[in-house]
This record gives sequence, structure tokens and C-alpha cells, in this order.
Amino acid sequence: MIGDVIKNNYDYTTSGREKIPLMIEQKNRAIIVGTGMATPKRILTNSELEKIVDTSNQWILSRTGIRERRILEDDHGCSDLAVEAAMVALREAGLEVSELELIIVSTVTPDYPTPSTACLVQDKLGARNAAAFDLSAGCTGFVYAMASAQGFISSGVYSNALVIGAEVLSRVTNWNDRSTCVLFGDGAGAVVLQKGDSGRGIIDFSLKSDGGGAELLYIPAGGSRKPASEESVAKHLHSVRMNGNEIFKFAVRVVDNVLEELLTRQGIKAEMLDYLFLHQANERIIEHIRKSIHLTPEKVPINLDRYGNTSSASVPMIMHEEAAAGRLKKNDLVALVAFGAGLTWGGVLLRW
Ligand code: COA
Repeated sequence: MIGDVIKNNYDYTTSGREKIPLMIEQKNRAIIVGTGMATPKRILTNSELEKIVDTSNQWILSRTGIRERRILEDDHGCSDLAVEAAMVALREAGLEVSELELIIVSTVTPDYPTPSTACLVQDKLGARNAAAFDLSAGCTGFVYAMASAQGFISSGVYSNALVIGAEVLSRVTNWNDRSTCVLFGDGAGAVVLQKGDSGRGIIDFSLKSDGGGAELLYIPAGGSRKPASEESVAKHLHSVRMNGNEIFKFAVRVVDNVLEELLTRQGIKAEMLDYLFLHQANERIIEHIRKSIHLTPEKVPINLDRYGNTSSASVPMIMHEEAAAGRLKKNDLVALVAFGAGLTWGGVLLRW
């Protein structure tokens, strides 16, 4: 099954919303007041992978840009990484845990099918006043979660939110499949959002989906359609299956489209962006997009050489690295854009 976005080459720049000049009123904007990240200590290099599957450092580096990735130790789960990242973000925000009203965890690799990883995070943090839920939108999950938190904050119901992208993809990797096992890694990134009226914060967002492409990137078993069985385990149906070529073409097209939609709607030229934080899936995808909109490498940072593709953790992780290094500055104009399983894709435009 191939999604409409691939079959029909739809132009997603025209959503009918571009005539509305300002999407989120200044007084309702969610501002990022703290960032954090966490990665496991264990590093898995390309040369180690050469001993596991028929691959080479040269192939992985030239096709993806990845040199190494992190692997979470046994007996740990997604919530452990999520909590570690959250604590860094909360410390920077200077927010008491009891002030948190909402926790959203974006993940495709939760600790358990149920309850949500967000509830485990809520408990471990002791955030007794927070609502908590998980969100599943593949590698676009963090962008979806940011937009969702903005929605809660705009509603006036909540003022303080914790948004986390956390993944343990090593647990859903088929280590016999060289076309996927070289790509993924484990990690978590977190932000604390607070309502503010300074003109900073989330200006606009755009979220997209095309479930017609669901089977281009999916985990076939373990859900209600095909519960775990001896056969599903033997056939590796609990790990990620991907049509890499189709996902590559999809990514290149939709990232351009969603970015153009946001910039056009807000009357912003691409060169006015101080940062474009792109989902870290493949260096060739990132570089293709960066060059197509004529941004310098400093404005479109890359860290997937060190972490691989960490799905919905990748955008908050790279954002945290730039913020922690002091390069990302107050009032910088920033776009976050991601794409992934679903199919889903989307972007958030904000003033730092
Ligand atoms: N090591 C060595 N050879 C490999 C390999 C590996 N790890 N993985 C695949 N190959 C081989 C293939 O078997 C194929 O061999 P063949 O020509 O003899 O059949 C050859 O390399 C080319 O494979 P192909 O899939 O066409 O390579 P590619 O240049 O498209 O790169 C990806 C593959 C997966 C790196 C690339 O398609 C990609 O990055 N896609 C997007 C994936 C993505 O972003 N996913 C996450 C979305 S959130």
C-alpha cells in the first residue's frame, strides 16, 4: 500500500490556511524555558556492526552519515531516559516539579503497551499535579507533541508543560537486517514549555498525515492485528520494517513542502531563520534540504553521526545541544521539522 503523498505527488503547500496571518496569539504562546537530553553510555560503532551483519563503516557513513549510536542497557526502559532528560530541562527552567500540569511523551517504544510511559515519568518525577499521556506519531512525534502542548496552553487550561521525545529503538531492531539495523539509536530529549506574553514561543505549526503509507515504515506484530506468537517472534515481526528508498523520496519532498507552508503563511523568507532543526534520519536528506533553501551548515546542525536516528528524540536532542552550547540565543527564529512513520510529517515555527 503506497500513500497518496507518494502516489499523487500532492502539493501540500496549499492547505487553505495560508491567508490567516498569525496562527497563535502572542498572549497564548508556549515558550521553551528549559531543554534537556539523555543518552545511554554504551556506544555501538560502525566497525562493531561490521562484525554483526554484512556491512561496512564506509557504506554506512557514505549512505547515512552515521558513525555510531547509543544502546540502552538491559533492564532499563524508555521512561528511564525520558526522566533523565526531563530533569535536566526542569533544572534549567527553574520549575518546581509540583508546578507541572501536563506531561506528554512522544514515543514508539514505550516501556509497556499500557500504561503510558508518560505516567511512569509522572510518577518517577513526583509530578503529582500533572496530567500525563503518550503520543504516537513516529519520528514526527515530538513536533506533534509540541503542537499538542501549545493547544492545551492556548486553551488557558494549563500554563506549564513538559514535552519529551524518548526512544529505545534498539529494542525493535532486527540485528540480522542490515538495511535497518545500522540506522537507529536510543536517546531522549525534553523541553519545558511555559505560557508567556513576550512575543517569544510557538508562532505557528503544521501537522500532516497519510496513513496510506503505513506499511512503508512499521512494526508488523505486537498489536491487536497480529499479537505476539512463536511465529511472530521467529519471523522478526516485532522489529522495524522499512522501505528505505520510498521513505527517502517522501522525506525530501514533504519537508520542503511543510517548511514552505509555514514560512509563506508567516511571511518569512527561509534565510531569516536562525535555525532549522531537522529530524536526524540521514545526512543526505538533511543536506539536500539545507542546500535547497540556501541555509549555511551552522543553521542546520547535524548530530546523527554520534546518535543515529533516534526517532522522535532527535529534534529535542539536537535543539538541546545547540542551546547548551550557547549558540541558540534568545529571540532566534527557529523551525523544527520532522517526518516519519504513519506516514506523518510536520513543522513548528517559534521564536526562542
Ligand atoms: N551495508 C551494506 N550494504 C547495504 C546495507 C548496509 N547496511 N543496507 C543496504 N545495503 C545494500 C542493499 O542491499 C543494496 O544492494 P544491491 O544493490 O546489491 O541490492 C544497496 O546497498 C543499495 O541499497 P539501497 O536501499 O538502494 O540504498 P540507499 O542508498 O537507498 O540507502 C538507506 C538506504 C536506508 C540508507 C536510505 O534509503 C535511507 O536513508 N532512507 C530513508 C530512511 C529513513 O530516513 N528512515 C527513517 C524515517 S523516520
